[in-house]
Amino acid sequence: MQNSKIAGIGFYVPERVVTNKELEELMDTTDEWIRERTGIEERRYAKKHEETTATMGVEAAKIAIERAGITAQDIDFIIFATLSPDYYFPGSGVILQREMGMENVGALDVRYQCTGFIYALSVADQFVKSGMYKNVLVVGAEFHSCGLDFTKRGRNVSVIFGDGAGAAVLQPTQEEGKGILTTHLHSDGKFAEELAYYNPGCHGGKFLKDDKKPHFGEEPEFGGLFMTKEMVEHGEIYPTMNGRYVFKHAVEKFPAVIKEACAATGYKVDDIDMLIPHQANLRISQLVQLNLGIENERVYNNIQKYGNTTAASIPIALCEAWEKGLIKEGDLVCLAAFGSGFTWASALIRW
Ligand code: ACO
Repeated sequence: MQNSKIAGIGFYVPERVVTNKELEELMDTTDEWIRERTGIEERRYAKKHEETTATMGVEAAKIAIERAGITAQDIDFIIFATLSPDYYFPGSGVILQREMGMENVGALDVRYQCTGFIYALSVADQFVKSGMYKNVLVVGAEFHSCGLDFTKRGRNVSVIFGDGAGAAVLQPTQEEGKGILTTHLHSDGKFAEELAYYNPGCHGGKFLKDDKKPHFGEEPEFGGLFMTKEMVEHGEIYPTMNGRYVFKHAVEKFPAVIKEACAATGYKVDDIDMLIPHQANLRISQLVQLNLGIENERVYNNIQKYGNTTAASIPIALCEAWEKGLIKEGDLVCLAAFGSGFTWASALIRW
């Protein structure tokens, strides 16, 4: 069976840089607190009413498609990973399809948050390997700043996230041992509520502890669960995160899933030329690196400049590292992620 390879990659971040100092003016936080706990110095925020998750994806996709040496009309299938879609439905994949004039090709949205890009890449890999599609566009994009709580209440979450998009074009390769060698996808829904965006939804508070149950207001017999004015009034329309829990699990799962990818292919962690971890938090990346004994030159982090861009973070970091010449033909590249769900995933690629 043929492998798939990344034939082109691109990324886009909005122009507007938002520094920690600027956040100090919006909420009760400090540059020092943010740098110390997360490593983040600045992030980008999209231009409201002009940019969307899909339009940022389009910008990244245009670059990836051009670098793959094809045109938008050559794309056979789109996989779009995001947790901040333009609409609750339909998915952002169809908006990108329309905006890029990709006539009638299928579009699949993937909602696996921080691991979204690797999940999407893995699905694309199977389509290409099986021969079903020749040019699959994989996009990870987020517009977090549109819905963060910029008050003290939301400061533990809001300071972490940034906006942006990354994209890759997957094509078949006949070269032995090249391309995507293996992918590993995991989830443990036991922790679904520890890092989540509960509302809007149909859960009706069923899985939530009493202190987390949303305010529904006066309920009719049917309806009245999805999004109510009481939820808005009580600020229950923002993401919630149990930071310590996330930290603890992330530093375990990242190394485990990286080792799993190595074991599946017969490589050792020492063979990895470049590790691209999901940019969750610089402290998490540093602990993972320490645990695996990988030197600084073999790990790429750019959360300092862009914050955590969730599904976009891996393709942005991968592309930036490649543009800087840090990833060369023949290198063994490992992608790894951990995030909401909890989910965790890895991919090993011979570039
Ligand atoms: N600025 C200033 N103070 C803050 C801020 C802020 N932005 N946020 C929280 N604090 C305060 C809290 O209110 C608390 O104050 P108190 O002691 O007076 O009550 C204090 O700082 C400590 O709060 P904790 O939440 O206990 O802080 P912690 O040391 O756990 O650090 C953090 C929080 C940085 C989120 C940490 O838990 C962490 O790094 N977790 C990993 C989560 C993560 O990286 N998520 C990324 C997104 S998910 C993903 O991509 C996988």
